[in-house]
Amino acid sequence: MTSVWLATRPPQREFPELDEDVRADVAVIGGGIVGLTSAVLLQEAGLRVVLLEANRLGHGVSGHTTAKVTSQHGLIYARLRARFGADGARTYAAANQAGLEWIADRVAADGIECDFRRRPAYAYVTSAARRHKADREAQAAEQAGLPAWLAETTPLPFDVEAAVRFDNQAEFHAGRYLAALADSLAGARIFERSHAVEVSSNGDRTVKTPGGRVTAGHVIVATHYPFLDRSLAFARLTPQRSYAILCRVAGALPEGMFISGDSPTRSVRAVPLDGEERLLVGGEGHKTGTGGDTRVRYQRLEDFARRHWDVRSVDFRWSAQDNVTLDGVPYVGPVTPWDDRVLMATGFGKWGLTGGTAAALILADRVLGHENPWADLFDPSRLSQLASPRLVKENAEVGLRFVGDRLTKPGRRSLDDLRAGEGDIVRHEGERLAAFRDEDGTVTAVSPVCTHRGCQVAFNHAERSWDCPCHGSRFAVDGSVLQGPAVHRLEHRPLEERGGSRSSRRNSA
Ligand code: FES
Repeated sequence: MTSVWLATRPPQREFPELDEDVRADVAVIGGGIVGLTSAVLLQEAGLRVVLLEANRLGHGVSGHTTAKVTSQHGLIYARLRARFGADGARTYAAANQAGLEWIADRVAADGIECDFRRRPAYAYVTSAARRHKADREAQAAEQAGLPAWLAETTPLPFDVEAAVRFDNQAEFHAGRYLAALADSLAGARIFERSHAVEVSSNGDRTVKTPGGRVTAGHVIVATHYPFLDRSLAFARLTPQRSYAILCRVAGALPEGMFISGDSPTRSVRAVPLDGEERLLVGGEGHKTGTGGDTRVRYQRLEDFARRHWDVRSVDFRWSAQDNVTLDGVPYVGPVTPWDDRVLMATGFGKWGLTGGTAAALILADRVLGHENPWADLFDPSRLSQLASPRLVKENAEVGLRFVGDRLTKPGRRSLDDLRAGEGDIVRHEGERLAAFRDEDGTVTAVSPVCTHRGCQVAFNHAERSWDCPCHGSRFAVDGSVLQGPAVHRLEHRPLEERGGSRSSRRNSA
């Protein structure tokens, strides 16, 4: 499903596929907010930049957010202060405020028409039992140097117990902003549909794609989920999906951006579109590849919107996937401690527009050999997360899935049981298949074994994709890669070759 940002952005320039070997000072892998911002910074510092995007620029996670540009990331500052001390919370705040202001300056300097506007951000709680969380958060955020204070009310059309308000935050149209960043990369070489599958180190660093290689002094892996296994990111990130809808409503909308500190999480903001303000509601986060029928998630968001506003229509529905780190701070810096020329940025916990811009500032400084005051906090090799109990728990869960899915889930249904529009792991001639039957009755079958590390994929009904619960790889129904860390497609299972009685593209109900 297409986000409002992609559906209403200006026509996008197309870039060629990489089909030769090229050289650069820096190879940037990934054309989202981190990759584009890094490329702009490095190009403007005089370096030769090559940018590789597996799909189209800005079409990944960055094009599917709520497009809030804020340092308020839920109720995070009290947690950061407890884990990293007051200095750590202050550093996180400073990096994100710098990201926000970099975007504001860029919009002003380049005259980018992306509906950028300043708004207060509120993180609210509705239950008296959670009021102490808002109190603590307001205090921690203020101590971190943010323009934060505790508010007793908000402009929302329902009562809250308390809210932490950050002044002078912002929101924009993510698609138009990303398109403008891409346009300002006139001096860089950009390649789309050029999927990096390997980075090797042999003097310079070399990025391999199916069509050619890029040899560069530095490589920035800004692929959302780093596909390099040596980053061990797959052991330290939890992929999460979340959902958003955009509604036309009667009446005025509250001025501000809002997120609940209660469960379930609800994210609210207004979006100017075609001369009127629309209501954006987000939330319903869950771990990728789990959580049941994903179509229900959209319905719950719509129910929330209808409970509080006079909704006339729901015009857009979209979902996103982002990674959460073990300690809540993104991983930004060298992929490994022993190679500072291959860098990564990941784990923005659904706050990637501001956090991703801050990450690009850190990565550009690293490439240019400049000191950066935030780099240590975000260093992927920091010690705080290595001893995390979550590391043990997450990896134990992945291990159980790897073994358990294979041994205990042979596929409960047969291929013939699949209804139109349905996908599932099925049994067929003694083999497990990931099979999808479309509305015409045509069945497409692929292997259910994720090509990253062998876990079993699960069907995502809302997106019609195969999602892996272990590290979040996603595949289209035909098995092609939608999202890494997997770089290889799910194997096709041509049913017509099995006893001559079946076709994987058959036309029967
Ligand atoms: Fe790692 Fe599937 S994403 S096993």
